[in-house]
Amino acid sequence: MSETPAIDPARLGAIWADVVEQLKTVVRRHRVTQDELHVAGDFLNRLGQSGMGRSLIDVALAMTSVDALDVAGGGTRPNLEGPYHAVHPERPDGVLFERPPAEAAPRLALSGVVREAATGAPVPGARLDFWQADENGIYDRTGTHLRGVVHADAAGRYRIATVLPSDYSEHDHDPIGELFRAMGRHNTRAAHIHLKVSTGGRVRLTTQIFMPTSTFLETDYVEGAVSPDLTLDLAETSGSTPAARRYAAEFDVVLGVGAP
Ligand code: BEZ
Ligand code: FE
Repeated sequence: MSETPAIDPARLGAIWADVVEQLKTVVRRHRVTQDELHVAGDFLNRLGQSGMGRSLIDVALAMTSVDALDVAGGGTRPNLEGPYHAVHPERPDGVLFERPPAEAAPRLALSGVVREAATGAPVPGARLDFWQADENGIYDRTGTHLRGVVHADAAGRYRIATVLPSDYSEHDHDPIGELFRAMGRHNTRAAHIHLKVSTGGRVRLTTQIFMPTSTFLETDYVEGAVSPDLTLDLAETSGSTPAARRYAAEFDVVLGVGAP
């Protein structure tokens, strides 16, 4: 993003005034010193130089915005988009691999039905756009491995074949990691798969699906992101071995009436 984009000036002015007023309360409550304010300013400079400003806002505030807007409208709970969405290829066979995954990578067959909350009717042709980290917690940031678009069939059913993503810690070497370390906190996200669902060219839902195998479900550093309704039930399937686990899970998607 370059210059401040078009936001209604009166709305922007009102939000800015409120932000400053709330921060003054924090300064008074904690008797924040000028030196500490300068430390904060230096931190913001480093944050800006690292390009991580947007991610810090995501971590601290995105879920509050998602919940405050309350667009679920009786549908699947929305969740933050996060920083790694891109343009993804169509995957007619539902296989999200751009290259063969490691032999030992746990496989996941994920399927479900897309329905309208208002009528309960399935949504044939719904467009489902998936992206996720791999079994080592790494996103493909330059290619399209573990990224792809599938379409619901005539019965509203979708299916993908992928690997079970791992928890990931993205900010070990940037100012966000520095801030969390300074507070004695970890900066790990609970393992998840991102999903964006569109109908008729309109995005109806952006959410995340969490893996029950994660050890960070209770402490995801994006506060408020994880919820039981967005967490899969995994069933181990035939062909699973201790060296190469295979899982299947169902996740139905309900498109709410209030969804944007
Ligand atoms: C994510 O959803 O992938 C994400 C969200 C906030 C910060 C970093 C990553
Ligand atoms: Fe993510």
